[in-house]
Amino acid sequence: MEEQRAHWSSSTGFVLAATGSAIGLGNLWKFPFITWENNGGAFVLVYLLCIAAVGLPIMMAELLIGRKTQKSVVGALKEAVGPAWGIVGLWGVLCGFILLSYYTVIAGWSLFYFTQTAGWTLGGVPEGLAIGDLFGQQVANSPLQFGLSLLFSVATVSVVYFGVQRGIERIARLFLPVLFGILVLLLVSALGMSGSGEALAFIFRPSFSELEPEGVLEALGHSFFTLSLGMGAMVTYGSYISRSQSIVKASAMIVLLDTVIALIASIIMFSVIFSVAGMAEQVGGSTVGMLFISLPELFYNEVPFGTVLGPLFYVLVALAALTSTMSLLEVVTSYVIDEHGVQRQIATIACGATVFIFTIFAAISFGNVPFFSTLALFDGKTGWFETADHFVSNWMLPTGGLAVTLAAGWFMTRQSTESELVDGTEPRWFRYGAWRLFIRFVAPLAVTAIIVAVFFFGADFS
Ligand code: PHE
Repeated sequence: MEEQRAHWSSSTGFVLAATGSAIGLGNLWKFPFITWENNGGAFVLVYLLCIAAVGLPIMMAELLIGRKTQKSVVGALKEAVGPAWGIVGLWGVLCGFILLSYYTVIAGWSLFYFTQTAGWTLGGVPEGLAIGDLFGQQVANSPLQFGLSLLFSVATVSVVYFGVQRGIERIARLFLPVLFGILVLLLVSALGMSGSGEALAFIFRPSFSELEPEGVLEALGHSFFTLSLGMGAMVTYGSYISRSQSIVKASAMIVLLDTVIALIASIIMFSVIFSVAGMAEQVGGSTVGMLFISLPELFYNEVPFGTVLGPLFYVLVALAALTSTMSLLEVVTSYVIDEHGVQRQIATIACGATVFIFTIFAAISFGNVPFFSTLALFDGKTGWFETADHFVSNWMLPTGGLAVTLAAGWFMTRQSTESELVDGTEPRWFRYGAWRLFIRFVAPLAVTAIIVAVFFFGADFS
């Protein structure tokens, strides 16, 4: 007898889980950094447009494919569009696999910085410690990297092991409110700092002369990453929605929360940076710079109540990362469960362990290990970590996203998508015709632009 498919216990549970997937290192680590690189204001505005015009319609498309078929990504695409589309689903599973392999390493860094900052709070900062140098030392320490990522992988597996309701939903319900709470505390503290006015102006006052065309594509590329689109995470989460739960309202809520959190994170970080003389000049250089090089010291020493908020900040990063890694592992695991009939517990451990092998490659990317730290498939990207990030952000997510827009806009019948979105649960502001216009024309054209930029002009969004 076939087992009944698990479902979220309520709309709130689902929205929290999906929001947890969306909110992650993309919001705390990538978004502030690329906003910085692209000079703020105008970039933020373009990003908001991309989220609304491309991200939101694709979010609805992925959720509807999941809810309609009640299957994880490979089975869902096969059933909703046609057998050949299983390949696209597999592309998503592979993407989840690769993304998880290096994402876990960054998540591990948050554990490291939590223990460091908490240690300083309890025992004082050691005499002569150069906090800024700590990052380079810890990433080059391969045994430490191995340990941190192992810890994080075990945490991820432990959640997914217990399934949709007792694992994923329960952790999301527990952690997201804590995450919001910590963020509000940090925001209040940061707004009290002298640089907050300058930070707000930097983020919200657009100056289009400072935005390069590349920035527009970067904003578009990031909207996939931050909303967990283009690789089946939302199709998979959508497959656990029951028919009485609205896709449109949920999508709007997830997208809104993800965006607000990214903006709040930027306000916090820039307020700190603009408050410290000379800091603005020092930040940058590397993607990890802001979150793990400049901020640990500033959070700890400059932010009001920083001795408490510093460690809490890294708890926030870890929680945000965990609610994302569990969705990544769920994509891979649910594929093995649904398509190969493996039992959840076994599937979770097997998938977690296999991904972990690649996580090790990412974890030792910054050490002196031959091959793994020198591997260079793409220009200027060395080691598995950078290679994987580059491949996922530039190639896998945009192509996966394009496939979803084509599936929902062109290959599925109008009637089959309409009946999912317009089912009596949709809010009054929703217009199916508008969604269809965006999913058929606006989103695919925009995504094609990213792909062309990467392919022909060598743009890089990782
Ligand atoms: N959305 C997550 C973040 O912003 C990353 C992610 C991408 C998670 C794809 C799941 C799937 O950090």
